[in-house]
Amino acid sequence: MAIHLCENNIFVLETKNTHYVIGVDRYGHNRHLHWGKKCDINDYFIEYIGDENSNHTMLDDYHQEYTPFGGTMYRDCTVKAEFSDKCREISLKYDGYMLDGNTLSLTFSDKVYPLEIILNYKAGDDDDIITRWTTLKNNGSDKIRFEKLFSAEYNLPSKKPYTFKNTNGAWGGEFLETNSVLEGGSMVFESRRGTSGHNQSPYFIAYQNADEKSGDVYFATLAYSGSFKVSASRDLFRTTRVILGMNDFDFAFELLGGESFETPEVYSGYVQGFGEMSRQMNKFAIKNILPKSFNKKTLPVLYNSWEATEFNVNVQNQIGLAERAAEMGVELFVMDDGWFGKRNNDRAGLGDWFVNREKFPNGLDELINRVNELGMDFGIWVEPEMVNADSDLFRAHPDWAYHYDTRTASELRHQLVLNMTRKDVQEYIFGVLDDLLSNHNIKYVKWDMNRPLSETGAENLPCPQMLWYLHTKAVYDIVDKLKAKHPETAFESCSSGGGRSDLGALTHFDQAWTSDNTDAVDRMVIQKGYSLIRPIKTMRAWVTDIAWIIKPATLDFRFNIAMQGSLGIGGNLLKYSDEDLETCKKYISLYKEIRDLVQFGDLYRIMDIDKDEISVNQYVNGEKTESVVFIAANGTRFYKKKVPLIFDGLDENRRYTLTIGGKQYEKSGAYLMNVGIDIMVRGAYYNEIVRIHSV
Ligand code: DGJ
Repeated sequence: MAIHLCENNIFVLETKNTHYVIGVDRYGHNRHLHWGKKCDINDYFIEYIGDENSNHTMLDDYHQEYTPFGGTMYRDCTVKAEFSDKCREISLKYDGYMLDGNTLSLTFSDKVYPLEIILNYKAGDDDDIITRWTTLKNNGSDKIRFEKLFSAEYNLPSKKPYTFKNTNGAWGGEFLETNSVLEGGSMVFESRRGTSGHNQSPYFIAYQNADEKSGDVYFATLAYSGSFKVSASRDLFRTTRVILGMNDFDFAFELLGGESFETPEVYSGYVQGFGEMSRQMNKFAIKNILPKSFNKKTLPVLYNSWEATEFNVNVQNQIGLAERAAEMGVELFVMDDGWFGKRNNDRAGLGDWFVNREKFPNGLDELINRVNELGMDFGIWVEPEMVNADSDLFRAHPDWAYHYDTRTASELRHQLVLNMTRKDVQEYIFGVLDDLLSNHNIKYVKWDMNRPLSETGAENLPCPQMLWYLHTKAVYDIVDKLKAKHPETAFESCSSGGGRSDLGALTHFDQAWTSDNTDAVDRMVIQKGYSLIRPIKTMRAWVTDIAWIIKPATLDFRFNIAMQGSLGIGGNLLKYSDEDLETCKKYISLYKEIRDLVQFGDLYRIMDIDKDEISVNQYVNGEKTESVVFIAANGTRFYKKKVPLIFDGLDENRRYTLTIGGKQYEKSGAYLMNVGIDIMVRGAYYNEIVRIHSV
């Protein structure tokens, strides 16, 4: 919308429904003044307060946008640096602002040392999202060493405690929500693994009395795939503050004279209800975050070989699977792990990105050509950051993996992590992947990462603690370079499932693998957690046979759940009956009709499997003329049969037709959203897909 410059260095960032107000006081302190509903912009002012007593200073009480360590500011700071003379405090003065359209930059510099800190803000024009990042500049010649370098700080307005929604996930159980009340002290959500990981999430969602449709929700999410930290605290003044950024654990960052650095971005907003948060972030991410090559494109239905053939891939079985996949209507055939080096299990081969001639005697093109003949694109799996000790690459370059000479490097899944901060390693990875893409018709790369970093010795770096950041940056840079050279190739971020699906990854990768857990019942919960703050079209969801489960849900049920993201198929099609194949064909064809609604529409989470025993998710297009509703329940208790289904997101004044439970209806949007229609839910794996069309 607009950024208003008011008197006395007050800046009002106006978004569609909110004001975010910043000021700079007469002492040069950056001050946070308001975040929430819009007020008269002339009412905002900076209050000057005195110290409360000798123990509680006014600096402690200040609401700040970015807090440097120093003076009597004792709370969690966002930046801490050491200058060449060993002074470890920063003391800022205000230098001025720059306004460029919807971007505001406030420049501060140290009163003595040549350090400049610029706070950057971009206000959303058709939403309530404010993008923030911080620029650090060393304008001198001596290096400045940072011990902490966060992206942003937020002050929440209410003095009452907030509840923080985050996740406590795991491999196979990503995005499982937690809700924790913060009354006092601090609450930290973090990763120390070198990747954003499966456990906690790099965001805060702080709320009071909120549900899907109403209540105050403040959120901010960090676009960074490395070790992160989100630290929230509620202090003696009852102020709740949150800082987000690269984790300061085992962290250091050196800025040499003349260098500058931009922290990862944070996307933040204030909205009513979790549903509005998800819808705003979904649209925002499609427009502003996802790589431009595929952000507006509809994603294809893919087949992935992993669950069917695991490491046992070869030209015959892959062609067999491809033929069946094509028959069903699949558009992209992805061959997973096992095609390269001596990769017959997870103990060997990583690093040797050359086709295994025993499995593919005539090279990869025999398969790729057949896949193309069948009318599908071809995609391939790689895990470039890793190496097995049993590989030609490791035998030639044992020093390329992170290690300390005096420590044993842990082999998780029998693999070591390559030192991605080395130039030669980066060149090798770019080189082999570039060759692969240049020599074959490959339209999709699934980039996996199956273990976190450990024993992170990196002798090549003058400041080894920078490796946490540099590793992540190297991954982003290589993907960007490959995408620039091969613009028609899409990239998927996978990390043992959804271990690297943060918005930093999704700035470079076009989609993500959600979870290795493809059990449709578990997926209802996993996918809901994913949908909170990540764009739906990036959520890859496959229909598989989940061989580790005694009896998977019905095929219809599995499709119902997988069709709520970007659909994939991952079962062993060679074992499917004709009837199964027909079922797959039917749903893939239906998915193609509705996928734009799912991938680009607005999601309304109407019922929650954990709370309501039924999962109901409705997707509506921008014009509110088309909608699709997915209803699924794997089992209900207490003979619960009749459930009132109140729809959402429609236009009250339009009339719609729909068929539900075998009955046809024509009703107004107002009726559907206020009275609704009763559905009869019973039986194991009850599921229905309802399409709503405006008349
Ligand atoms: C982990 C991924 O999440 C799976 O989908 C599969 O690609 C395996 N790695 C292959 O090793």
